[in-house]
Amino acid sequence: MSETIRELISEEEVDKRIRELGEEISRDYAGKQIHLICVLKGGVFFMCELAKRITVPVSMDFMCVGSYGDGTKSSGVVRIAKDLDEAIEGKEVLIVEDIIDSGNTLYYLMDVLQKRKPASLRLCTLLDKPERRVKDVKVDYTGFEIPDEFIVGYGLDYAQKYRNLPYIGVVEGVEE
Ligand code: IMP
Ligand code: MG
Repeated sequence: MSETIRELISEEEVDKRIRELGEEISRDYAGKQIHLICVLKGGVFFMCELAKRITVPVSMDFMCVGSYGDGTKSSGVVRIAKDLDEAIEGKEVLIVEDIIDSGNTLYYLMDVLQKRKPASLRLCTLLDKPERRVKDVKVDYTGFEIPDEFIVGYGLDYAQKYRNLPYIGVVEGVEE
């Protein structure tokens, strides 16, 4: 397969936007401590950069939730592959995700986490593809709204490749 990657959002634009989100989140949570939950694996690059731009105290945990398949379409079946290490009851929880596509994953995850009684539960995503939404998910912080194309880089993969690209790109030349 000879896919190629076209740059959609440059490294500089991503960095700038993450700084802005960090400032906005720091203002909104002034006087509080934020418990960041990274949705693995895609959210890890975004979470690290975002956490560095947040000026209120932060703690972190990781969760792996997926709908699996190596292709460009999600199967729609959500499962928890790795749960959180710590309880979230009473915490100001902010979920950090790479991309909201159909919304299936986050719809499920928000429901699971809400039942654990956090003080608050909000969602921050680097990318949002609103055109593809199937489930209604309320997003509190969005990096970029993007068109319905298959994205890689900055944590996002195509068949586990390209997560390490420092920019956000579109995969081209893939047979569906
Ligand atoms: P959902 O369809 O909103 O449940 O998206 C679930 C997951 O699919 C995301 O968290 C990503 O890991 C993955 N995903 C969705 N769209 C893309 C994409 O364009 N590139 C890479 N991964 C994607
Ligand atoms: Mg993800």
